[in-house]
Amino acid sequence: MIDKHSPIPIYHQLEEQIKTKIESGEYKAGDSLPSEREYAEQLGISRMTVRQAITNLANKHYLYRIKGKGTFIAEQKLEQNLNGLTSFTEDMKARGMKPSNKLINFEIIPANEGLAEQLHIPVYTPVYEIKRIRLAEDEPMALERTYISANLIKGLTDEIAQSSLYYYIEDKLGLRIGKASQIFEATLANEEEIQYLKIEENSPVLFMKRVTQLADGTTFEVVKSSYRADRYKFMLDLER
Ligand code: GLP
Repeated sequence: MIDKHSPIPIYHQLEEQIKTKIESGEYKAGDSLPSEREYAEQLGISRMTVRQAITNLANKHYLYRIKGKGTFIAEQKLEQNLNGLTSFTEDMKARGMKPSNKLINFEIIPANEGLAEQLHIPVYTPVYEIKRIRLAEDEPMALERTYISANLIKGLTDEIAQSSLYYYIEDKLGLRIGKASQIFEATLANEEEIQYLKIEENSPVLFMKRVTQLADGTTFEVVKSSYRADRYKFMLDLER
């Protein structure tokens, strides 16, 4: 398994091998990693070298340690492809995971100046305000605050907000979603995010704001999402 004559440092070779086992699913989240001693004996390398590989993987969040108990395989981050205007429900289904929502709040509010400007509607026009926890396989992934123009997207109910909004808009109302612009920011979780996403204080979250238009160019939603930075990474294809 280890090539001692390779110019690649031994700790790095071991690191890559453990990483491959995690990524292929051979080592599963929550499993304990063989001990330093076992690796060292089995591979005929020093425990220091094994420790270096394990430390590097722990620093990269592939592994985590519990004092007195050992080293374990961490949950792997979901890679979210950003090439395409997809919904949370579609994203989860595409990777074979079960999406669900926990509705925190659903009401119709009058648009304040900020919302009115972003949705291109007059101030005080009715807007649905929807706050949902988005879950994958019953694990909270993101907290989402959605503002939808009520005069445009008619008949939204709390029941619909507990499933897919995009499905309702396209398949039930027969409207076509066109394009969106999205910004990303790194932030620290606030009180609400800590509570709803079940994350530790001072955890980083990936905040994004999406403003979405129907195919005819009318803006219908403003969405503020906070994704768990420990469970998500994003991918984008770039061309030039
Ligand atoms: C993602 C986007 C949101 C969008 C939502 C729709 O989470 N970040 O901007 O509103 O998908 O999801 P669904 O159709 O599952 O309700």
